[in-house]
Amino acid sequence: MQISFSSPTTATGGALIVAALAGGAFTASAAEADRMAGGALKRALDVSRFSGKLGQMLEVLAPAQVKASRILLVGLGAAEELDGLKAEQIAADVTGRLLSSGEKSIHFAVDRPRGLKLDDAELAAHLAMGVELRAYSFDKYRTRQLDERAATVRKVTIGTKDVAGARKLWRELSAVAEGMYLARDLVNEPPNVLFPAEFARRTKKLSALGLKVEVLGPAQMKKLGFGALLGVGQGSAHEPQLVVMQWLGARNRKAAPIAFVGKGVCFDSGGLSLKPAASMIGMKGDMGGAAAVTGTMHALAARKAKVNAIGVIGLVENMPSGTAQRPDDVVTSLSGQTIEVLNTDAEGRLVLADALTYTQRRFKPRLVIDLATLTGAIMVALGAEHAGLFSNDDNLAAQLAQAGREEGEPVWRMPLATNYDKLLKSKIADMKNISGGPHAGAVVAAQFLQRFIVDRQSWAHLDIAGVAWQDGEQKALVPSWGVGWGVRILNRLSKDHYEL
Ligand code: BES
Ligand code: MN
Ligand code: ZN
Repeated sequence: MQISFSSPTTATGGALIVAALAGGAFTASAAEADRMAGGALKRALDVSRFSGKLGQMLEVLAPAQVKASRILLVGLGAAEELDGLKAEQIAADVTGRLLSSGEKSIHFAVDRPRGLKLDDAELAAHLAMGVELRAYSFDKYRTRQLDERAATVRKVTIGTKDVAGARKLWRELSAVAEGMYLARDLVNEPPNVLFPAEFARRTKKLSALGLKVEVLGPAQMKKLGFGALLGVGQGSAHEPQLVVMQWLGARNRKAAPIAFVGKGVCFDSGGLSLKPAASMIGMKGDMGGAAAVTGTMHALAARKAKVNAIGVIGLVENMPSGTAQRPDDVVTSLSGQTIEVLNTDAEGRLVLADALTYTQRRFKPRLVIDLATLTGAIMVALGAEHAGLFSNDDNLAAQLAQAGREEGEPVWRMPLATNYDKLLKSKIADMKNISGGPHAGAVVAAQFLQRFIVDRQSWAHLDIAGVAWQDGEQKALVPSWGVGWGVRILNRLSKDHYEL
């Protein structure tokens, strides 16, 4: 979407967006638009249920004497309660309503109401963010029926008293939106297109932003001892890959980095412990953790964040075949610990085990956060409203909880405790990869990962199985199946606590 900022005006050729507050009181630009339209807005209001509640809309089409093709009055709710996220949601709802309506351009004349926490620049930049996130689409595989559904809006302008401030903020936010677009694209791509080598190829493009990108193939990983990760990939015709992305933006390029590790199972059939047909649908999205890490690295580099950050993603395809890993196999992980694989569908933890070991050994990071669509059990516990957070560090957990709340990617902390750990006892190896029982599946998976975290390493695990894609109700800021979950929370964590 072509988005720009201008000084306040209500003169526009396209759709004019003006606002009212809770109770229905017009803001100044709404009153001006109403005057231009000879009171049409007020008359429409009198015969509607519009009350200025957050997100409500009232539309007057082709009003006489006015340059605008339509006037859309939106409710801001109570000014004191409006924050960046709510402003984004309003702009997203407006965009969703008009995007393929035939309208060609939108102008936001939303003047800052008294009592608002946001300043002029923040209000304008967050409106832009809402437009951008809602304007996303993934239509590359459609060849027909595009006409009525295709977007007609090409241009959005946002009026603000602080054009320079809004542009500056938007440079940062649009970098985050770009990262989210990338993460969404990766999650939405079908698995016959986005297999591990193709995913790795796409990460290579990030080097244009100043990121260093390395790819380890199966031969290198075998030499280094990635027995757990390689075991998962050995049934597939597609070779596993490990991608290491480095953004060194801190003043001291040698300062210990923050590290993100992502599960990148490009398709999870379950392997020989095959999933039932219905459960396999959507398992192209089992690389959502890797997509989040890749999108975050894009965002950090695109906004030139003053942080040293590492992104490591383990890319595999989990398939059944004559060469596939068997239930009962024992593999030796990069850490040296042995794992009895009793269920080949508990594969994400095997991939992460080696990726986590590699990341800690090579980079000695000040913190490690892994993201993975790891368990169905986390969806049973939390649904699609929170990701599961597990951490050995209360401070990091609190930082993530706050970043998630503020960015609209909320997390809920779950426990780690030695009493769960005994569920991983194996009859012949150091551990098994499932507990075998029906309880606490998400916790057991986190306990498994913790066995690959070295002493005193600050670590958090985000189980994003419930939030990486959306099958049910569509969220205002997410118009596609792939959510791009994780980019915002990680970017915010970095920005608030680990930059400069
Ligand atoms: N990728 C799945 C988890 C998943 C399930 C993500 C549904 C999103 C939606 C993971 O690899 C898996 O299969 N986990 C098993 C673990 C079990 C075998 C211990 C699960 O959750 O059933
Ligand atoms: Mn699985
Ligand atoms: Zn999986």
